[in-house]
Amino acid sequence: MKQISKILTLSAVALALGACSTGLDRSRSLLNPNVSGHTLAQQVCSICHGNIGDAVNGNSVNPTFPILAGQQPDYIVAELQEFHDHHRKDPAAQDMMWGITRDMTPKQMKELAEYFSHQKPLPNPEAAEADPAMVKAGEKIFNEGFLEKAVPPCMACHGSGAEGNGPIPRLAGQHADYLYKQLVAFNDDAQRAEEDEKHHVNSNGDDLERPQGVAMEGIAHGLSDMQKHEVALYLQSLK
Ligand code: HEC
Ligand code: HEC
Repeated sequence: MKQISKILTLSAVALALGACSTGLDRSRSLLNPNVSGHTLAQQVCSICHGNIGDAVNGNSVNPTFPILAGQQPDYIVAELQEFHDHHRKDPAAQDMMWGITRDMTPKQMKELAEYFSHQKPLPNPEAAEADPAMVKAGEKIFNEGFLEKAVPPCMACHGSGAEGNGPIPRLAGQHADYLYKQLVAFNDDAQRAEEDEKHHVNSNGDDLERPQGVAMEGIAHGLSDMQKHEVALYLQSLK
C-alpha cells in the first residue's frame, strides 16, 4: 500500500513537471524562478524592447525603450541589478523596470544578458532623418572629445565603433532620444553632486538617478545641450 501511494505520488509529480515544462516555455510569470531567461526575453521583454521584424528581438522601434540587441552582457546584468536594487531612478525605469526585475534571479539575469547580447543589432531607421551637419559635429566629439571642457573622447571607453566593452555599454545604433535622455540624467547627477558635494560622497548615491554612472557625470556636464544632441545623433547613425 505504501509502495502504491509512493508510485502515485511520483507519477503525480512527473505529470506536474511535464505540464509545467510545456507551460514554462510560454510563461510570462515573473514570479517563477524556473522560467528561463530565453522565455522571458520572448514573452515579456519583447513587448517593449522588440521587434523590428519578427526574427530579431531587442531592436525596439520606440525610443522610450532602449535597444538591447548586441548590448554587452556584463552591462545588461549590471543594469538589471540596478533596476532590481532601485538605484536607477528615471520615472520610466521606476514604472516599467523595477517591477519586472523584482523577483528576477541572478541566473535569469545572466540568461537574459546572454540572449540579448547575441541578437543582431539592426541599423536604426531613424538615422536617415538626422541633420547631417549635426551628425558630423557629433562624430568629432566622439572621436576627439571637447578639450575646452576637458571632455575625453567617448571612443576611449566605448570603443572606436561604440561597441562597448564589459560594463561599458554599446551605444552604436541606439535611439538618439534615449541616449540624449541618459546624458541629461548624468548631467543632472553631476549638478546635484556639485551643489551638495558632502551629501553626494556620503549617501551611496541615494539621490542620484544613475549612481553607477560616476564616470559619465563630468563628461555629460562638459557637453552643451546642443553637443549632447549631436553626439547622440552620431551614435544612432553607427551600425
Ligand atoms: C513595459 C515596458 C518594458 C518591459 C516589458 C521591459 N522593459 Fe526594459 N526598459 C524599459 C524602459 C522604459 C527602459 C528605459 C528606462 C530609462 O529610461 O531609464 C528600460 C531599460 C532597460 C535596460 C537598460 C538598457 C540600457 O541601455 O541602459 C535593460 C538592460 C532592460 N530594460 C532589460 C529588460 C529585460 C531583460 C526585460 C524583460 C525581462 C525588460 N527590460 C522588459 C521598459 C521595459
Ligand atoms: C571613462 C570612460 C568613459 C568615457 C570617456 C565615456 N563614457 Fe559613456 N559610459 C561609461 C560607463 C562606465 C557607462 C555606464 C554607466 C552606468 O553603468 O550607469 C557609460 C554610459 C554611457 C551612456 C548610457 C548608455 C545607456 O545605454 O544607458 C551614454 C549615453 C554614454 N555613456 C555616452 C557617452 C558619450 C557621448 C561620451 C563622450 C562624450 C562618453 N560616454 C564617454 C564610460 C565612459
